Amino acid sequence: MSKPHLETHIGPVRLKNPVIAGSAEHLIDAEGVRRAIRAGAGAVVVKSTNESQTARQQLQQAEYAVLDENWNRIAWDASAPRSAVVACRSGLTPQPFDAWLEQTATLDREARNDDCIVVASIILSELNHAVSMARQVEQAGLRVLELNIGTPYASQAAKGAVSTELKPERIAEIVSAVRAAISLPVWVKITGQSERVPDLAEAAFGAGGDAVVMAGRLLGLIPDLETQEPLLGTTLGVGGIWHLPLTCQWLALTRSKLGLGRPLIGTNGAQSGLDVARMMLAGAAAVEMSSQVMLRGFELLRQAVNELDAYLARRGENAGDIVGRAADTRKSFAQMEVRQDNWRNHIPR
Ligand SMILES: Cc1cc2nc3c(=O)[nH]c(=O)nc-3n(C[C@H](O)[C@H](O)[C@H](O)COP(=O)(O)O)c2cc1C
Repeated sequence: MSKPHLETHIGPVRLKNPVIAGSAEHLIDAEGVRRAIRAGAGAVVVKSTNESQTARQQLQQAEYAVLDENWNRIAWDASAPRSAVVACRSGLTPQPFDAWLEQTATLDREARNDDCIVVASIILSELNHAVSMARQVEQAGLRVLELNIGTPYASQAAKGAVSTELKPERIAEIVSAVRAAISLPVWVKITGQSERVPDLAEAAFGAGGDAVVMAGRLLGLIPDLETQEPLLGTTLGVGGIWHLPLTCQWLALTRSKLGLGRPLIGTNGAQSGLDVARMMLAGAAAVEMSSQVMLRGFELLRQAVNELDAYLARRGENAGDIVGRAADTRKSFAQMEVRQDNWRNHIPR
């Protein structure tokens, strides 16, 4: 059933709702992508590819952990509490590029029946290869390309396997090259491992990006008390509910720097429809949910859409109405009311 009040626009791209299934391992197999489509996602970003064999090999060395609030490992399933921390190393799709492209194009054609878009995803390794792959993505008839230039792993993986771009000039160079090669909408996914996320977003838009996805996961190290070694042996990409305020902060700062005409997509920390609403209030036109769907199952996407629907219905609002509301009412500290000695209520009695 069509629900016009859930529709959102990301530049020229209309989505039936703002809940996007974000790229991760559950979107490698065609059946995973189909399940995300059937669960009602507005768009599905497939597992990323690039030309690096090492990046592909990394997937076969990947490990995944979920931890409770005492940093104890718990089962990787839907019983994990909402507060659980997800920590992992990942790699890229095991499929050869041609097979990945054919599968992705077929799935995007199928997705039209559900008014859903299947988004191709390339993680930058070498720029000329990325440009050539982007051209092939367009020629295959896909409707949107997500270009991830901000994976958490560049400093940890083999040289050149993946990229964590931290300089606006370099982002401008990459996005310009891709933009010059294709006319397809390009969503640029940038790192959160920077103090300059709004500057990185500005560079991506300035070079012709249609939307910016923010912000990629952070790196962390979790010491294991028994082995006295790092959990899973090394530095990991870490995420969880705790990242939601950081994502919202980047969204709000970027919106205030770049203005309303620059579509932002939230990623990192959304677990529910209400979290999607939170990121939208901070400035996102749509929100990607990745690790939580991988952990809890595809039904989480349907629940998120229904929860957002109920929130908007209760308030009599459309999805587009709420984008950036909290960001736009953000005040400076100096504008805040005086609350004399309020600090005394917040120290031990
Ligand atoms: C296991 C795993 C694999 C991922 N693989 C990809 C990928 O191939 N391409 C990509 O752009 N992002 C990838 N991501 C990043 C997610 O799409 C997402 O941006 C990130 O996990 C933060 O959002 P979340 O809190 O909803 O998980 C991956 C994340 C995880 C946990």
